[in-house]
Amino acid sequence: MKTAVAKIKKLSSLRPTLALVLGSGFNHVLSELEVDAEIPYAKLPGFPKPSVAGHDGKLLIGKLGGTPVIVLSGRAHFYEGHPMERVTFAVRALAAYGITDLLLTNAAGGINRKFRAGDFMVLTDHINFMGTNPLRGPALPGLPRFVDLTQAYDVTLSALLASAARTAKVKLQRGVYLAVSGPSYETPAEIRAFGKLSADAVGMSTVPEAIVARQCGLRVAAMSCITNLAAGISKHPLSHQEVLETGERVKLVGARLLKEFGKLYGKEK
Ligand code: HPA
Repeated sequence: MKTAVAKIKKLSSLRPTLALVLGSGFNHVLSELEVDAEIPYAKLPGFPKPSVAGHDGKLLIGKLGGTPVIVLSGRAHFYEGHPMERVTFAVRALAAYGITDLLLTNAAGGINRKFRAGDFMVLTDHINFMGTNPLRGPALPGLPRFVDLTQAYDVTLSALLASAARTAKVKLQRGVYLAVSGPSYETPAEIRAFGKLSADAVGMSTVPEAIVARQCGLRVAAMSCITNLAAGISKHPLSHQEVLETGERVKLVGARLLKEFGKLYGKEK
């Protein structure tokens, strides 16, 4: 951890307090980033080697909408077989670096009948259905053992996302994200059940990172790109291809939204 953090500090004289984790469909924001420095995860001890199409693996430092940010392009997913420690390592490294605010993004399937493929959704809360918890294991010195998640997603940062969406003229849905381990997509029966549990969207990431970030005391906001309607709601079978295609279709919208968020975050600081 110390080596990775020292390397990130040496990379750039910028000292961002905001970090973004880019999920499928959000990578295009890199074209809006004034890059100061970048480093592949392979050169950061402890960082994962992502292997899914649509996710590369590098950390960038630069300015987004004039605001210094760290961007993680690519994440480790639990379904790839990584232990939770590896899935959440980068978040712990960001906290050790001095990041105070974290924006997590992801692709998700829409459960809420009002959602359409290509919509964006800010997370108001989550349901952890991954079957494990990233804080399981020995207690970590100096960090809380039992982490309160009453307000996992920060109200101020989420309001900033909503303002960014208004300015960027992007419709922003709000809802509860339910995380599964994957990698199979859900059955229609599972999606009906998740809907009854109050889930608006389903995906395979974000929740472990959000929980660890809260343990580290970071403020967290998260946003989904609804890349497809969930199983049984969609009229056709689900595919990773559809996820990538929707991401591609709305990439400019996502990038605009994130850039505006960067700008507003800088003003509020
Ligand atoms: N289910 C789970 N994860 C996903 C989906 C989905 O429908 N779409 C994108 N990520």
